[in-house]
Amino acid sequence: MADLLFSGVQPTNVLHIGNYIGALKQWADVQHRYRCLFCVVDLHAITVPQDPAKLRKNVLDTAAAYLAVGIDPNRSNIFVQSEVKEHTELGWIMSTIGKMGELERMTQYKDKSAKHAENTSVGLFSYPALMAADILLYDTTVVPVGEDQLQHLELTRVLARRFNSHFGETFVVPQPLIQKVGARIMGLDDPTKKMSKSAISASSYIAITDEPEVIKKKISRAVTDSGTTIEYDEENRPAIANLMTIYHHATGKSMKEIEKEFAGKGYGDFKKALAEAVIYMLNPIQKKLKEFQSDPAELTKILDRGRDAAQEAAEAKMKIVKEKMGLGR
Ligand code: AMP
Ligand code: TRP
Repeated sequence: MADLLFSGVQPTNVLHIGNYIGALKQWADVQHRYRCLFCVVDLHAITVPQDPAKLRKNVLDTAAAYLAVGIDPNRSNIFVQSEVKEHTELGWIMSTIGKMGELERMTQYKDKSAKHAENTSVGLFSYPALMAADILLYDTTVVPVGEDQLQHLELTRVLARRFNSHFGETFVVPQPLIQKVGARIMGLDDPTKKMSKSAISASSYIAITDEPEVIKKKISRAVTDSGTTIEYDEENRPAIANLMTIYHHATGKSMKEIEKEFAGKGYGDFKKALAEAVIYMLNPIQKKLKEFQSDPAELTKILDRGRDAAQEAAEAKMKIVKEKMGLGR
C-alpha cells in the first residue's frame, strides 16, 4: 500500500501565499504519490480565542481552499479535525508522553504566549501533543509543512519513539517534507519575520483571495534592500531574495533564469513582473474557491466522506493504543 501523507492548516483568517507556497502547493504537487489525509485543524485554532461564527465559516473556507489549490477529492480525503474525536483522545495521551521541558522549548508556543501574555491557554501549551496525535493516529509516513512546523514534527518523532519503547511498537515515526526554497516566505514589510496571518499590517502578506489591484499595491510597497540589482543573496539581501522566491514559485523559473531575465533592470520592472505573476498564479485558485464556496452541498459531501474514512482508521488505532497502555477493561 502507498505511504500515508498527513497535513493540516488552522482555520484562522484567510490563507496567504506563504501558506500556499510553503504547504498547500506542495500538497497538490505530491498528492498522487501517496494516500493523503488533509485535515482542517479547528481544535488547534481554538488554542487562541476565536469567534464561533467566524470559526465555522473559516472551517468551510479552509476546506474549500484545499480543493481550490488542486487537491483531488476523488483520491485524497479532506476532513475536519473536531469531527473525529480520536484526535482529542490521543492528544490527551500524547500530553502524558511529552515532558514539560520539551513543550516549553517550542518556538511557536514562546511566540504566541508572549503575544497573548495575559491569557495564555493550557491548550496553547499542549498544542504540539495534539499535533502529534493528528499525525500518529494514521501511521503517517510523510508530513508536508513549512519550516516553522519542523520543530513540532521533531517532537512528534520523539513522542512516537518514546511511546514505542515504553509500550511496544505502535506508531510509525513520520518524516517531514519541506520545499527546497520557499519553506519560509517572509513578510513583505519585514523580511526578518515570516509572512503571517496574524501580522498587524495586512500589507505584510498577500492573501490568496486578494484582488489584482490589492496585489499590485502590496508588491509595489514591499520593502527592498539597499542594492539595485535582481540577484539572489539570501544572507545579505533577504528582501529581494524573498521576492525572488515568490517569483520562482509563481513562474517555475530558476533563480539563475530570474537573474538573467532582470539583468540590467531595476526593482520597478521586477516588481511589476512579480505582481503579474502572482495574479496569474492566484487567478485559477480564486475562481475555484468561489465555485466551491457557492456549492456547499458538494463540500458537505466531500467532508462527510473524509470524516468517515478518517474515523474508521482512527478508531482502529485507538483500540490498539488503549490496549497497549492498559486503559479501559
Ligand atoms: P498555519 O497557518 O500556521 O496553520 O500554517 C499552515 C501551513 O503553512 C504550515 O505547514 C506552515 O508551516 C505553513 N506556513 C505558514 N506560514 C508560512 C510562511 N510564511 N512560509 C512558508 N510556509 C508557511
Ligand atoms: N500546527 C500546524 C500549523 O500551525 C497545523 C497542524 C496541526 C498540522 N496538526 C497538524 C500540520 C498535523 C501537519 C500535520 O501549521
